[in-house]
Amino acid sequence: MAKTKTSFFCQNCGYESAKWLGKCPSCQEWNSFVEEVKVKESTSRQIWQEAGAKSLPVQLDAVDGTHIMRLATHDNELDRVLGGGIVPGSLVLIGGEPGIGKSTLMLQLSMNAGRKTLYVSGEESEQQIKLRADRISSEAKDNTWVLSETDLDLIFQHAKTVKPELIIIDSIQTLTSKSLESVAGSVGQVRHCAGELLKYAKQTHVPVFLVGHIIKDGSLAGPKVLEHMVDTVLQFEGDARLLYRLLRTTKNRFGSTAELGIYEMTGKGLRIVDNPSEILITQRDTPVSGVSIGATIEGNRSLMIEIQALVSAAAYGTPQRTSTGFDGKRLNMLLAVLEKRTGLKLATQDVFVNMAGGIRVEDPAIDLAVCVAVLSSLHDISVSDKLCFAAEVGLGGELRAVNRIESRISEADKLGFSTIYISKYNKKPEQENRSIEVKEFGLLPEIFGDLFS
Ligand code: TYD
Ligand code: MG
Repeated sequence: MAKTKTSFFCQNCGYESAKWLGKCPSCQEWNSFVEEVKVKESTSRQIWQEAGAKSLPVQLDAVDGTHIMRLATHDNELDRVLGGGIVPGSLVLIGGEPGIGKSTLMLQLSMNAGRKTLYVSGEESEQQIKLRADRISSEAKDNTWVLSETDLDLIFQHAKTVKPELIIIDSIQTLTSKSLESVAGSVGQVRHCAGELLKYAKQTHVPVFLVGHIIKDGSLAGPKVLEHMVDTVLQFEGDARLLYRLLRTTKNRFGSTAELGIYEMTGKGLRIVDNPSEILITQRDTPVSGVSIGATIEGNRSLMIEIQALVSAAAYGTPQRTSTGFDGKRLNMLLAVLEKRTGLKLATQDVFVNMAGGIRVEDPAIDLAVCVAVLSSLHDISVSDKLCFAAEVGLGGELRAVNRIESRISEADKLGFSTIYISKYNKKPEQENRSIEVKEFGLLPEIFGDLFS
């Protein structure tokens, strides 16, 4: 096979050099050279002729795009984050820290999808994969073909004979292509291999999943361009010490990026968590102070989440404000609103706020529940665990309307809450047959009066 010509390119300005350079002579950037396969230069005349032969512009109305067939993964959470199943020919990147469960999730996908799947692992031997597969399921696995290989060209050869309907590459950082001399995991290799896989996916309509490692600062190892290339980026996250894992979409050409999937890591692989509130709300025999429950929305799904607050006299001059799973600046703002509008003395108190279950909440509707938890801890009075809250708090201490109030209320009702506190500025939800009481207030002090009087 003729060797592909490669060259080094500055990632900053595009300067080309035959060998690697530490500093770009053109833009003076350090460490910006990456080896890349050289694309044959074609004249504009050639391009014009090729385009004429291969593709034709079509009127948008004439494009048949109404019906994208999606392949079901038989995993509700994965289907949801993908926007309703796998789109044929799509390239999906799944990133996450080591040990979070990426390989487990992908192996489960290949066994459950009910389609001929080629699972390529550059990290584990076939025996190791088999051991893991046996732990996960005792059923027949004749649809899954495993291959322990890192050479991209060989992988394509095997794909030709196996003819899979789905390919999983675990991981993109272990692949090498002979066209490049750089080592596996280098920016050039990752980019080139992903590019070849993208071409494969588009030409054969076989969807390809890439597992990608995450480097220390939380970004995907390899060039940012990897994220640009793929159709969908999924992020698998969670605290390795906790059992819960969250699957988020950070980019999706075929669906919403607000979706969230929740799994639990068990001895037999990942289990789908159908009712997330079971993990996000602690079951207690006796009520404790400093705890309240917020009705939030993540993507299209309502989640009831427990907020814990601890307010205690500051030991040092400057009080601490610490939050986990909640924006620290927003916490400072809420505390200032509480001081100014309700007259609470928080300036000499340490305040800690925690979202249960290691989840991160961005939904502003959680504000009210945070304020209630802080007040409950400050006065050491518990709030009944049959109450929940959904409203944004404004700088004037006013309760602001939040989106999708209907689904928050019906979720709270379904889970057996007795009362939900919302803003009176929310469009009054229609009274369906539900047993939950909806209390509406305009100002923070009014709610406190109702709760703690
Ligand atoms: P793994 O999928 O190898 O993570 P990654 O590919 O993201 O590095 O899984 C890592 C952890 O999951 C590992 O520490 C063991 C644990 N695990 C279970 O607890 N139960 C199981 O059934 C399996 C397969 C793994
Ligand atoms: Mg792995």
